[in-house]
Amino acid sequence: MARRKPLVVVTRKLPDSVETRMRELFDARLNVEDIPMDSAALVEAVKVADVLVPTVTDRIDSALLSQAGENLRLIASFSNGIDHIDVASALARGITVTNTPAVLTEDTADLTMALILSVPRRLTEGAQILQNEQEEWQGWSPTWMLGRRIWGKRLGIIGMGRIGQAVARRAKAFGLQIHYHNRRPLPHATEESLEATYWDSLDQMIARMDIVSVNCPHTPATYHLLSARRLKLLKPDAYIVNTARGEVIDENALTRMLEAGEIAGAGLDVFEHEPAVSPKLVRLARQGKVVLLPHMGSATLEGRIDMGEKVIVNIKTFMDGHRPPDRVLPSML
Ligand code: DGY
Repeated sequence: MARRKPLVVVTRKLPDSVETRMRELFDARLNVEDIPMDSAALVEAVKVADVLVPTVTDRIDSALLSQAGENLRLIASFSNGIDHIDVASALARGITVTNTPAVLTEDTADLTMALILSVPRRLTEGAQILQNEQEEWQGWSPTWMLGRRIWGKRLGIIGMGRIGQAVARRAKAFGLQIHYHNRRPLPHATEESLEATYWDSLDQMIARMDIVSVNCPHTPATYHLLSARRLKLLKPDAYIVNTARGEVIDENALTRMLEAGEIAGAGLDVFEHEPAVSPKLVRLARQGKVVLLPHMGSATLEGRIDMGEKVIVNIKTFMDGHRPPDRVLPSML
């Protein structure tokens, strides 16, 4: 007798090619309308599914997992980050969790670099001037729209994993001096090729940087890593860029400092209470003090297809009785 195909519930719309392949391989319940699932829909999903495919917009907490049906054996997240899943609870219930690492690295590093350039060089401010119908551009002037030079400045990267290193490679080509803080220093050869300086003390590093880039995951240990106290250590002419997770920075404290002119600017792709974005930050963006992007660090078609491929391989391997390649292990939490 043919084996029943696993019931795979996917919470959001995925690229067409990924959905087509999922339909071929699995009994796939897709969300082609891309309407985010409310908690009732998620409860229904975990009750019936063999495999759940959530994304960063779904909260998979222990209360939800306590309602999971017996068939739910795998959560194959369509995401690199796993902070939306209570992984410890899932593992305790015997549910395997996988993610999609490595395929978002270059895209996220590109967007990080774009923000590193945009904020000091006032890119969005300049672009808006030509789009503003109320105002006519008066032409070039020696003292107008002056930003700050990138070349020769010090970039402090917080979190030197795959994405942090990809940012460092790009930043080096732009003449930035690379500094980093990480749980552990990089192997000597990697450090040497990036010409990167390791700082064991985050406090000491950020006090000396011109630009700080947040590239670490959000975990209990990194929640508000850039606390109000730490942010105060930044130089008044420093910029901060975050393409990792909003929760790593105390957003209220950062906003207060930007309003008070205590740091020069920020480029934020992620927010503490996503999808809500503080009106104060929006006001600062209108004043040209910050560049805000709607969590689009990894948003390329190629990246999303690669993520989908990873999800499919993880499900298929698991269903064939093997260890899926991208298992989230307790040591990663
Ligand atoms: C992820 O997958 O963790 C990203 O934040 C989505 O862009």
